[in-house]
Amino acid sequence: MDISAVPIFFDKLKDSLNQQTFVKLTLSRLRHPSDVKNIYARLVSIKKQPKIQFTFRYATRDEVKNFDFTEGVVFIQDQMGTVFLTADLFTTDFDFSLQFNKKADNAQFLTKKTNSKRPNTEGGISPHDQTKKRLLTPTQPYFHALEITDAKGNITSNGQKKFKQIDKYIETIAALLREADLPNDAVIADFGSGKGYLTFALYDYLKNNLKTTPSVSGFELRENLVNFCNDLAQKCYFDDLQFFAKDINEVVLDRLDMLIALHACDTATDVAIAKGIEAKAKVIIVAPCCHKQVRKELNVKNEMQPILKHGILEERQAELLTDGIRALLLESKGYRTKVFEFVSTEHTPKNVMIVGIRTDKPKPTALEQVEAIKKHYGISYHHLEKLL
Ligand SMILES: C[S@@+](CC[C@H](N)C(=O)[O-])C[C@H]1O[C@@H](n2cnc3c(N)ncnc32)[C@H](O)[C@@H]1O
Repeated sequence: MDISAVPIFFDKLKDSLNQQTFVKLTLSRLRHPSDVKNIYARLVSIKKQPKIQFTFRYATRDEVKNFDFTEGVVFIQDQMGTVFLTADLFTTDFDFSLQFNKKADNAQFLTKKTNSKRPNTEGGISPHDQTKKRLLTPTQPYFHALEITDAKGNITSNGQKKFKQIDKYIETIAALLREADLPNDAVIADFGSGKGYLTFALYDYLKNNLKTTPSVSGFELRENLVNFCNDLAQKCYFDDLQFFAKDINEVVLDRLDMLIALHACDTATDVAIAKGIEAKAKVIIVAPCCHKQVRKELNVKNEMQPILKHGILEERQAELLTDGIRALLLESKGYRTKVFEFVSTEHTPKNVMIVGIRTDKPKPTALEQVEAIKKHYGISYHHLEKLL
């Protein structure tokens, strides 16, 4: 066993923090399988106090935590050899690496001088709010037409929340796209596209950031919104973005790679999921809105009754059951699912996202589980079941 390299690395880390030569640090190579893929650290200033900001990268989301320098170094020490096997520290003049073997009983320290002095701006202390990297460019004309930015492309105070929600949504989709491996010319449908905020942003991201050639269609009942969106798509030269005034129940799609339905009302989410499954979409993404159908069905005659007599708890239980059964039904049709909050409740309370990624391996027990849950809560049917 030789881990004498460990204190050498941590001395370099502490020196870089004290001498302000720290640029960034990454922790990678998991020792055991874990949900977190890697951790990225940089310096930020919060209320004029320097902090190490750690970004925990998961498959579909990032989580950020800020630590004081001392706490941050202790955190990295705790992670190394237990959770992660490699730490790479980048400073203005040197790259340092601490690398454990698989058993974590041996570690080596590597050092490399950088070719030219690196500015410490990447991880350098800068105002916290200014360091957030955006995926979308607010100067795109559609943001102005959608009243999120002013004529110069600055996000207005009223537009801040919506912009954050859209940017976060794109960040989530970007992670899912990496996982699902969609074709370059992906065919995408947005069910209940409304005013098109997310449809425009998704097209923009795929076309301009990823440089792919998607075809994106929005389906929306309200004709005035469809006309507005088609005009705007033309003005933006978004040639393969189109909107149709159509009830999603009537939509028939020959080819579909990804289906999205964000905040489609009540059972419209079920219709969207069913259409996605029918068209064998590789990815189905829904963020449900209200959950009336299952709530009306609840007929609890067991130990849960005294809890569910409270309206708000019954409402939450209905949400949980509606979305939980949706995920199980997707699994019964060969989709791997994830259910998570995609944006903080501060931006929208409707923040649960259900994602299905097609694997063609149906979960054999899923329908039995749905039956058992329905029986326990006296639910005679879930709308999605009827559609499948
Ligand atoms: C709450 S809005 C969400 C709009 C958009 N997806 C967003 O997140 O910004 C729901 C939209 O779904 C549309 N909608 C509801 N039922 C529909 C149906 N059966 N067919 C097509 N559109 C529908 C509504 O008109 C409304 O514009």
